[in-house]
Amino acid sequence: MRIGLIGTGRIGAFHARTLRDHPQVDSLVVCDQDQARAKEVADSLDVQLAGDVQELWDSSADAVVIASATSSHAELITAASDRGLPTFCEKPIALDLSGTERALRHVQEAGVPLQIGFMRRFDAGYVAARNAVRAGWLGRLHTLRAVTSDPAPPPADYLPHSGGLYRDCLVHDFDAIRWVTGREVRQVFALGSDAGPPMFREAGDVDTAACLLTLDDGVLCTATATRINGAGYDVRLELAGEEDQLAVGLGPRTPLTSLEPEATASVEPAWPGFLERFAPAYREELAAFVRLARGEGENPCDGREALAALRVAEACERSREEGVPIPLA
Ligand SMILES: NC(=O)c1ccc[n+]([C@@H]2O[C@H](COP(=O)([O-])OP(=O)(O)OC[C@H]3O[C@@H](n4cnc5c(N)ncnc54)[C@H](O)[C@@H]3O)[C@@H](O)[C@H]2O)c1
Repeated sequence: MRIGLIGTGRIGAFHARTLRDHPQVDSLVVCDQDQARAKEVADSLDVQLAGDVQELWDSSADAVVIASATSSHAELITAASDRGLPTFCEKPIALDLSGTERALRHVQEAGVPLQIGFMRRFDAGYVAARNAVRAGWLGRLHTLRAVTSDPAPPPADYLPHSGGLYRDCLVHDFDAIRWVTGREVRQVFALGSDAGPPMFREAGDVDTAACLLTLDDGVLCTATATRINGAGYDVRLELAGEEDQLAVGLGPRTPLTSLEPEATASVEPAWPGFLERFAPAYREELAAFVRLARGEGENPCDGREALAALRVAEACERSREEGVPIPLA
């Protein structure tokens, strides 16, 4: 099959290589509004270059992967569904609920599949956690602790368009919590701190956040995130039940040092960032998309999942602003 890829930045360039190497992708055509960037990727991977998005639409692709900047997602999803193209889009669909719902209505009316890039659903640890919960290994689950810590802050000009720490970063944890437990979030209470570099305050954002989520079966979850974790990239999910507890993301590359004398120190360098930590998951999610686009597989993460995770993020933002718990309908 022939796939069109829009956006060849950090994640787009990674997806381009994965798609180029996929045995069922016969050809790949890429574009980016930064033509030099697209050309560099096309040349380095020896794939076709489209001069702009219109040229990509005209290139007879069978399916499209959208990895451009967030602000372009809803419009590109809409345009792809008008052309009947199965679509994979990086999270988020849009930064607001109304824009997300509008795009989803369009996709539904067009009747084309839309898969969203919540790659943790393809990470071996998260998959194992989900299976363990479903198999009842932990007994009654009572507590979850989700952690997402970036090693270093993004550039200052990224912040005003990011949607903030809850929508941009913690949304992955909100999706993972829903997906692993199979439960919905009933209430959130969120705090944020902008005590770090001034650029966060200036953007109306926070550099560190802590959220308390209550699930609809009473499970309590904490989800914390920070943009500044000098020890390294750290993504974990700890699950505790009446009979056992498990951790995703706890291994030799976890940048967490135990102070206990008998503890063995972490022996490998910390993950530098998300591309290294989740490389196999990014490949798996695109393999699932190729199956979906070929009509050979189920949609592992359709647009309504992104809407549900965004609702949690929105409620956290409101909770932080108003200083009160926010119930989710
Ligand atoms: N799932 C994940 O773990 C994950 C990780 C990183 C980024 N993302 C998402 O992927 C998207 C891209 O992030 P990134 O870090 O690669 O950003 P980036 O800035 O490195 O790349 C974005 C690229 O999109 C291009 N672009 C912007 N608008 C365009 C348009 N209308 N048409 C064509 N090209 C356009 C830019 O020129 C740029 O090259 C974001 O929406 C982000 O939220 C997801």
